[in-house]
Amino acid sequence: MAEAGHTARVFSGIQPSGGLTLGNYLGALKRFVETQDTGGMETIYCIVDMHAITVWQDPDKLTRATRELAAGFIASGIDPRKSVLFNQSQVAAHAQMAWVFNCVARLGWMQRMTQFKDKAGKNSENVSLGLFAYPALMAADILVYHATHVPVGEDQKQHVELTRDIAAKFNNDFGVDFFPLTEPVIEGAATRVMSLRDGTKKMSKSDPSDMSRINLTDDADTIAKKIRKAKTDPEPLPENLGGLEGRPEARNLVNIYAALAETTPEQVIAEHGGQQFGTFKPSLADLAVARLEPISSEMSRLMEDPAEIDRILREGAGRAEAIAAPILRRTYEIVGMVGAGSH
Ligand code: TYM
Repeated sequence: MAEAGHTARVFSGIQPSGGLTLGNYLGALKRFVETQDTGGMETIYCIVDMHAITVWQDPDKLTRATRELAAGFIASGIDPRKSVLFNQSQVAAHAQMAWVFNCVARLGWMQRMTQFKDKAGKNSENVSLGLFAYPALMAADILVYHATHVPVGEDQKQHVELTRDIAAKFNNDFGVDFFPLTEPVIEGAATRVMSLRDGTKKMSKSDPSDMSRINLTDDADTIAKKIRKAKTDPEPLPENLGGLEGRPEARNLVNIYAALAETTPEQVIAEHGGQQFGTFKPSLADLAVARLEPISSEMSRLMEDPAEIDRILREGAGRAEAIAAPILRRTYEIVGMVGAGSH
């Protein structure tokens, strides 16, 4: 029952919970665009609304956040003709595949997920069952397309590794070579953008302090103010990369600069080493505004026509469905479900 080799295909997703941060942009969106434009691979990008509801979402806000995220994808350079762009709940195959994977993944695997432990905290008896099962849905998102490459930020690495474990166990249990062992693609200077208030914490949309993050919808003055007020130490920037050791806030600003300027941290240090933050921060603010301003104004423009956004997502969902349906059907057939195939 060996299956044919897997052609390269890219899948990734972002949750429509709250707005997009600079972390989402540099760690994910910007790289999705580069992959679309240069990778020579089929690219599938998903707004994962079913993941979002693992924690409470106000329905009207979820609707708006989904459209706004779609606008963010397009404004950042995702072309819905080149990439498949859609929201997860429109393609039922994700949920159907997730059930099969709930029956493949082991409880012990899920209990090791650090993101669950962080999110559930001391309250783990009272979080939704969905929050616990979430990584199996994420594996389904990826594997229902036989995706081979998943560009993500560092924080999603463990979930992609779990996806590989699920694929391997399914293949092994049923004696097939059906699901690919997907590679996480975690590259560039900004795979872990840190909070502007604490260089040891990830920049996150759920941080209570808005000063800890840059939102893609922030205006130029707000971006400049947040960077000016970002926590730093009193030393100037070092003359070489090794000098960033033990200086998480300085490292974070250098990494952000490098990612925005499409260069390397080495190059940023070569150009700005020795500068005081009073000099470096305004350069970083100018660069951030120059890169982000066009995206946020294009997002606002696109949000004026929600019907057009909905049309794009519907069309993307149709294309996604066409790829997923035969893979789901074959999965059911392998499992032995009557009606799925030629038994
Ligand atoms: P989410 O919505 O939390 O984040 C979306 C993407 O942004 C990246 N990211 C960051 N990168 C660098 N620095 C940061 N501070 C930062 N914050 C977020 C994330 O790593 C991610 O790539 N479970 C996923 C969504 C998902 C998914 C999938 C991803 C569902 N199914 C299938 C890939 C494949 C999540 O919650 O990402």
